[in-house]
Amino acid sequence: MCGIFGYLGNKNSLQACLKGLKQLEYRGYDSAGIAGLKGGKLYFTKKAGKISVLEEKISLQNLQLDLAIGHTRWATHGKADDENAHPHFDDAESIALVHNGIVENYTFLKEMLQKKGFIFRSETDTEVIVQLIAYYYQKNPKLNQAVRKALKEIKGQFAIALIHKDFPDQIIAATRESPLAIGYSDDRSEVLISSDPNAFLDEKLHILFLQTDEIAIVKKDRVKVFDKWFHPIVKATELLDSGFEPATKGEFEHFMLKEIYEQPLTIQKTLLGRYSEEFGTAELEHLFFSSGELQSVQHVVILACGTSWHAGCLASLMLEDMARIPTHAEIASEMRYKNPIISKDTLVIAISQSGETADTIAAVREAKSKGAKILGICNVNNSTLARESDSCLFLKAGPEISVCSTKAFTSQIALLSLFTLFMARLRHLDKEGGLHFLNELKKIPRLVRNVLDNAPQIEKIAKKYSHFPHFFFLGRRYMYVTSQEAALKLKEISYLNASAYPAGELKHGPIALISPHLPVVAFCANKQTYDKTLNNLMEVKARGAPIITFAPHGALEIERIADDIIWLPATIDELATFPSSVAGQLFAYYIAKERGTDIDHPRNLAKSVTVE
Ligand code: M6R
Repeated sequence: MCGIFGYLGNKNSLQACLKGLKQLEYRGYDSAGIAGLKGGKLYFTKKAGKISVLEEKISLQNLQLDLAIGHTRWATHGKADDENAHPHFDDAESIALVHNGIVENYTFLKEMLQKKGFIFRSETDTEVIVQLIAYYYQKNPKLNQAVRKALKEIKGQFAIALIHKDFPDQIIAATRESPLAIGYSDDRSEVLISSDPNAFLDEKLHILFLQTDEIAIVKKDRVKVFDKWFHPIVKATELLDSGFEPATKGEFEHFMLKEIYEQPLTIQKTLLGRYSEEFGTAELEHLFFSSGELQSVQHVVILACGTSWHAGCLASLMLEDMARIPTHAEIASEMRYKNPIISKDTLVIAISQSGETADTIAAVREAKSKGAKILGICNVNNSTLARESDSCLFLKAGPEISVCSTKAFTSQIALLSLFTLFMARLRHLDKEGGLHFLNELKKIPRLVRNVLDNAPQIEKIAKKYSHFPHFFFLGRRYMYVTSQEAALKLKEISYLNASAYPAGELKHGPIALISPHLPVVAFCANKQTYDKTLNNLMEVKARGAPIITFAPHGALEIERIADDIIWLPATIDELATFPSSVAGQLFAYYIAKERGTDIDHPRNLAKSVTVE
């Protein structure tokens, strides 16, 4: 995880770095720091807490740096305190280094360096990198060679940027399996380094991406890139004109609430121009597989994490139901170690809002090494997933700022619904069936708006239950996945314990948990499994648990069972997740708000999880 940023140019380096770091804060916000050079001296400030805390401290010192590197941290090794905050330094405080990733053999290297007399001041794995560079530099004072030698010794994944006080005009950047972009302006008056090119804000820059084991020596007037043997290489650049508009909360108290309310529009944007009423099918630009290739797909594997995995689980149900293709959704971090069966007839779909999730990217690379074709489903242009997929479909949901994913989820399922329709029409579904599905899909933005109109009722019910420490979520089929996603939202932003189970599994163990102290939250919007879910709720009621249901208008039997009902507009089973999950997002939001948590930046989390 973590974000790293570097700046070298005509502007105030410190301010440029702070600005860049703020755009990277989604990658971690435990602590932050900046180091820079001025007149051959090295200055730094680092602080536990968000970047605003660092900013306050730095403004007191009023530093005017020639160049700077910065870091925003998501702790892996060592707690989130000032000492463990980046940058880290060698003993002599000549080198400052920022790092994203994990050094897997850091214990071994640390012990080796300690035996040679190096003193460590932090608990981080990162300090090992900078001390190792210093060790090689002491032996032979050629900094580039020292960096190369040190990185060869390191096992794991990293992106780093470092400065040395004897080299006042350069930043060294390097990466292994971690994104790192370098952008320079047309007139070469400034160079920026970032873990994510989207942090280049409103700049018009020529961008190059470092690949595994490449090292860049970055100076104001030139960027030199070397391969792992330290041979110079020529990198292709692309012009990035981000036209960036900083996201604001507008009238909303939190980004999460704003993004929940954007959903009628974002779903619409995902769907717009991507279907044909004439043929009752989807028309997906950037789907670079031929109809023949897609017709011959025998098996689909979906890779994703967290909320994106839930979108994948829903897609797997839809693809099997409607397109009759055997599909399974794998948690990306698990898939890598399973030796998955991938043949030439397998299509791999990788879903990631950010396109940077390390587990998903690693699983994609594993699948590619087995010859799989990758279809990416992503929200962020220029992301690693977008670049590494054979074909990438974009959500068009706009930047999602809140750590808790809301609008990206509904756009993912909107796009996956279109893809399912496309695959179904290529195979079994007739035009009439395709049109029926399409018409239901087109109604979704309106149905979501109806749910939002009901927010005051959802807020009232959420407040009523906000003092309970544990929740139990239930559902069947699409509603089981929906309940998993709703439980994840609640855990993530309210820090309450919420587990989700397929309602039919209740009697196989978890029913022992049911008591008047455990509210049961049931998603009941699938017609196919409605009656069975009601039976399960009767079993819960008999054991005295409070019951909250999310149910479609007209499901009157529920009134006899539930203590509270969140009424939803009705739709077909395949699409019932849309209104249900938006209501679930509001339920989690209002509970978290009542409990006073940091909703947009929940503890221990980051928007983009860039370590495995
Ligand atoms: O960017 P990605 O979609 O790959 O992120 C995957 C998960 O980390 C993410 O969905 C996470 O579960 C969300 N914070 C949940 O709200």
